[in-house]
Parts: sequence; structure tokens; C-alpha cells
Amino acid sequence: MEAKEVIRNYWDYRSETYNTGIVEQSEEEWATWKNMLSSIVDSREHLEILDVGTGPGQLALMFAELGHHVTAVDLSTRMLEKARKNALMRSLDINFIQGDAEDLQLPDMQFDVVSSKFLLWTLPDPQKALSEWKRVLKKDGMIIAIDGDWFSSGIFLKSIRTISDGIRSIKERNFHNPFNQHYNPIKKDLPLYSLKPDQVSRFLNDAGFENINIERMNSLCRSARKKGNLLDKLDYAHPIYLMKAVKK
Ligand SMILES: C[S@@+](CC[C@H](N)C(=O)[O-])C[C@H]1O[C@@H](n2cnc3c(N)ncnc32)[C@H](O)[C@@H]1O
Repeated sequence: MEAKEVIRNYWDYRSETYNTGIVEQSEEEWATWKNMLSSIVDSREHLEILDVGTGPGQLALMFAELGHHVTAVDLSTRMLEKARKNALMRSLDINFIQGDAEDLQLPDMQFDVVSSKFLLWTLPDPQKALSEWKRVLKKDGMIIAIDGDWFSSGIFLKSIRTISDGIRSIKERNFHNPFNQHYNPIKKDLPLYSLKPDQVSRFLNDAGFENINIERMNSLCRSARKKGNLLDKLDYAHPIYLMKAVKK
């Protein structure tokens, strides 16, 4: 089976529990994320925003709440069902499209911002994806990519991962570790599986982006560890980065 098919199958399977993690976010956590986004993207303007790998639509919903016009793409139809429902519940009008972030069926130079959260690590060809995101961006458009080093080989983070895997097995009532079953055979084909900021910086540079800026999201991670549930506390112990770059 091709990596993309494995990835789509996994996220179809995970859509239910992943969505729960998003819809159960407290208003305070929601506001923390939204404030972070509005500090980057000027909410006085109504921008065209594309959220790739939207999952249940967290960033897409937030950008729409901030008054932007949002298109959101995901490989998984089940995730998109959740995202559509979440948008409906918040009375938000978002254009959801099933598709591949590495091969967007969208016209050139349509968007002011392309956002992605927790997607880069699972792409077989992140270089191709970044070229696609650049193609659909207008001149001076910006990429906002948020991602973490989820599978670092360090002993502390590995132990954290083992604990969170255990908790997820209990929550999902599935003790065969579906994540490992899906991802172990393909992880060697995912260049950013253990994502390092230098690597992403090189990919962004090679795609021709400028004003590349990568920083650790320390205060957001602190806030998620403080206010989130046990799984959030464990997930946000990993280094998470905010990566921005501009198309000139
Ligand atoms: C870890 S989830 C993140 C979801 C969402 N961005 C969030 O942070 O809540 C990864 C998402 O990326 C999607 N995905 C994986 N590969 C993709 C691809 N090539 N194109 C579009 N979506 C993809 C998955 O289906 C899944 O919904």
C-alpha cells in the first residue's frame, strides 16, 4: 500500500478521537490559539486563507471566526465530515475540499495565507508541498506552519510518547497501537517525521521563500500543559515550532 493511502486510512480511523480532542478544548485554550493567530494575521482585513491538513478544522474555524474567507483541505473524508459539522455548529461558512496538500487542485496565486498545523511531519514530499503552497499564494503571501518534533529519539520525549500511546490505547479501546501499525512501515519515507527546525528552514529556502522565521512556541505550550487534559500535557511537552515565511 502506498504511504498516502496508509496515512489516509489512519486519519480516517483517528477522526473520531482526534475531533474529541479539538471540540473539548476549553474556551480559554481556544482563545489562546486564536489570539496567537490574530497576532500574526491582521484581522482588520478579510484575507483569503487556505488551511492544509485541516483535520477537524481548528485553524480553519479560528480564521473564519476572525472574519477571513477560508478554504480547508484534507486527505481524510472522515476528518472533513467532522470539520464540516464543527463549522456548522459555529455557523461558519468554510469551503472544505478533499485533497492532497502536496498536489492542490487549486488555481495559482489565490491565497494571502497558507496555514498548516501538525501536518509537515506526515508528508512524504514536504518539498513538493511547500512548492504547491507557494504556487497558490499571492505575492507577499505568508506560510504559517505549526509543527513539533513528536518522535525525537531523546529518552525523556520517548518516555512521554510511550505514556501517551498507552493512554490513547485505553481511550480508543484498541491495544494494537494502530498508530505504530500504520506509521512504522512508512516513517522512513517521511523526511520530517522527527522534525527539526533547520530541516524545515532548508526546505523553505529551497522552495524560494523569504523572511523565514522559526521559533519555539514556549508560552502556548506552557498554557496547553497548564490548562489542557492529561494528553495535552504530554503532547505539549514536545518542542513545537511556529514557522513563518513569505513569498516575494
Ligand atoms: C495530526 S492531524 C492535524 C489536524 C489539524 N491540522 C489539527 O492540528 O488539529 C493531521 C491531518 O493531516 C491530514 N493529512 C495528512 N496528509 C495529508 C495530505 N497529504 N494532504 C492533506 N491532508 C493530509 C490528515 O488526514 C489529518 O487530518
